[in-house]
Amino acid sequence: MIQIIIQLVLLISLSKTKAASISLPNYPDSCGGVPIPYPFGIGPNCSLSETFELSCKSINGTSPPYRRDYLFLNINISSGQALVNMPISSQCYNSTTNSDDYKNWEVDLLHITDFRFNHEKNMIVVIRCDTLAYTRCFSDNNNSYLGGCVSGCDSLESLSDGSCSGIGCCQTSIPKGINYIELWFDENFNNSKVYNFNPCSYAMLTEAGFMFNTSHITTDQLLRQNTSAVIDWAIGNTTCNTAQTNKSTYACRSIYSNCSDSSSGPGYLCNCMDGYQGNPYLDEGCQDIDECANQNQCSEPAKCHNLSGSYKCSCPFGWRKKHNNLRDCELNLTLVIGICGGIFALLFLGVGIYVAHERRVLSKVEEKYFQKHGG
Ligand SMILES: *[C@@H]1O[C@H](CO)[C@@H](O)[C@H](O)[C@H]1NC(C)=O
Ligand SMILES: *[C@@H]1O[C@H](CO)[C@@H](O)[C@H](O)[C@H]1NC(C)=O
Ligand SMILES: *[C@@H]1O[C@H](CO)[C@@H](O)[C@H](O)[C@H]1NC(C)=O
Ligand SMILES: *[C@@H]1O[C@H](CO)[C@@H](O)[C@H](O)[C@H]1NC(C)=O
Ligand SMILES: *[C@@H]1O[C@H](CO)[C@@H](O)[C@H](O)[C@H]1NC(C)=O
Ligand SMILES: *[C@@H]1O[C@H](CO)[C@@H](O)[C@H](O)[C@H]1NC(C)=O
Ligand SMILES: *[C@@H]1O[C@H](CO)[C@@H](O)[C@H](O)[C@H]1NC(C)=O
Ligand SMILES: *[C@@H]1O[C@H](CO)[C@@H](O)[C@H](O)[C@H]1NC(C)=O
Ligand SMILES: *[C@@H]1O[C@H](CO)[C@@H](O)[C@H](O)[C@H]1NC(C)=O
Ligand SMILES: *[C@@H]1O[C@H](CO)[C@@H](O)[C@H](O)[C@H]1NC(C)=O
Ligand SMILES: *[C@@H]1O[C@H](CO)[C@@H](O)[C@H](O)[C@H]1NC(C)=O
Ligand SMILES: *[C@@H]1O[C@H](CO)[C@@H](O)[C@H](O)[C@H]1NC(C)=O
Repeated sequence: MIQIIIQLVLLISLSKTKAASISLPNYPDSCGGVPIPYPFGIGPNCSLSETFELSCKSINGTSPPYRRDYLFLNINISSGQALVNMPISSQCYNSTTNSDDYKNWEVDLLHITDFRFNHEKNMIVVIRCDTLAYTRCFSDNNNSYLGGCVSGCDSLESLSDGSCSGIGCCQTSIPKGINYIELWFDENFNNSKVYNFNPCSYAMLTEAGFMFNTSHITTDQLLRQNTSAVIDWAIGNTTCNTAQTNKSTYACRSIYSNCSDSSSGPGYLCNCMDGYQGNPYLDEGCQDIDECANQNQCSEPAKCHNLSGSYKCSCPFGWRKKHNNLRDCELNLTLVIGICGGIFALLFLGVGIYVAHERRVLSKVEEKYFQKHGG
């Protein structure tokens, strides 16, 4: 009997520790060490739509996930963002030919309508002691924006690590909802006076927080380096309200999921409701969080109870919840006073009865004594 109970307990705990899968059942859930959560998927029919279909290109032993030319470094399904590898444009003076060699790039997400560059987490950064670079950005609806960035410096001494405010390094932000960016250098900008100590200009779209370092000017390390940028993705091109009308195409599959309209353009995102975690794009994706696993959820002597989607703290006997406070207990004074008062009253009553009884006995004795001795 005890053995059966132990086995049952073991079974239950085993089934509880089974980790929730992030991708469709029976499909690969990572590629080159990068987890691929659904709606993304590897190969045909493993993703929500063609937009989210990645391929694992084998390069030099590893096989990271790609979408067209973009290597995905990570995918975050709760924020609807992904980090992708970005090349760095360069313009380098070549003393043999006495002219500039260019490596210009453009980033074209136009044909991946559900992706956009995040305008808050990315910057355009341009580096050199004397350069002018231009940017042209396009949004979903083909609005175009032209921008520029100039950086200069008199000497290497004027540069300072970590500062990108025009001296050796300049930065500019990008507009919202952009899915196409071009970067190029002004070819008529005369920077011959820095050729000898700073032959190259660099321009890139990169995560905000890029740290400028004097070595970017004094060495050619950026020529052999990539950077990374944050893209926003979203499901489809409609709002939550519209998407919810067709259950067969609605992407928020878990019953514990919640929908929110994308903040960077058309489309929507799914999230697990408060108190749940996991992948809202899968049927059983959002799972209850065991809040009580966090020891400090309720403060002593309260006990924690894990509820579906939430938790509660309960107080032991003689204690009660502190006013407006769900975590703390305090001694229930009215109860304590009541109980103490009760005990006191009982004691008092007992003593009273005893005294009265003793008195009666005494008076009887006295009476007998009185009768015996005749007063
Ligand atoms: C993908 O799905 C389509 C339509 O459902 C089907 O015709 C095709 O064979 C599937 N491809 C693979 C590789 O499973
Ligand atoms: C491939 O790996 C070798 C050694 O690990 C490295 O030297 C080389 O640069 C790598 N090539 C690419 C294209 O990453
Ligand atoms: C995903 O993004 C959210 C919000 O920006 C952040 O709190 C969370 O740490 C990210 N998760 C991962 C695995 O990076
Ligand atoms: C300069 O240009 C020549 C001719 O195009 C080329 O062979 C050489 O590699 C270039 N030098 C550098 C440092 O790029
Ligand atoms: C977007 O604008 C560019 C230039 O302004 C134009 O060449 C292109 O045809 C436009 N594309 C669409 C789809 O309207
Ligand atoms: C660039 O400026 C230098 C002097 O600073 C001058 O000698 C040179 O001719 C200029 N080059 C061009 C292409 O204007
Ligand atoms: C600048 O780069 C050098 C060498 O790459 C490194 O040692 C140094 O810590 C960097 N400084 C900052 C502020 O990042
Ligand atoms: C930079 O990115 C390109 C294109 O994704 C890739 O081929 C190359 O190996 C990357 N280089 C480094 C140093 O990561
Ligand atoms: C929205 O997406 C659907 C299906 O992908 C497409 O047929 C439709 O043209 C799109 N609508 C707009 C306004 O982009
Ligand atoms: C829901 O979407 C599917 C696939 O696009 C379509 O076949 C179906 O007719 C739609 N249902 C409704 C009620 O619009
Ligand atoms: C669902 O999402 C909406 C908007 O993002 C939010 O206000 C609401 O609190 C969420 N509901 C739950 C149960 O998480
Ligand atoms: C308590 O948390 C676990 C997660 O460890 C969850 O599976 C379980 O359903 C929760 N219990 C209740 C009553 O919600």
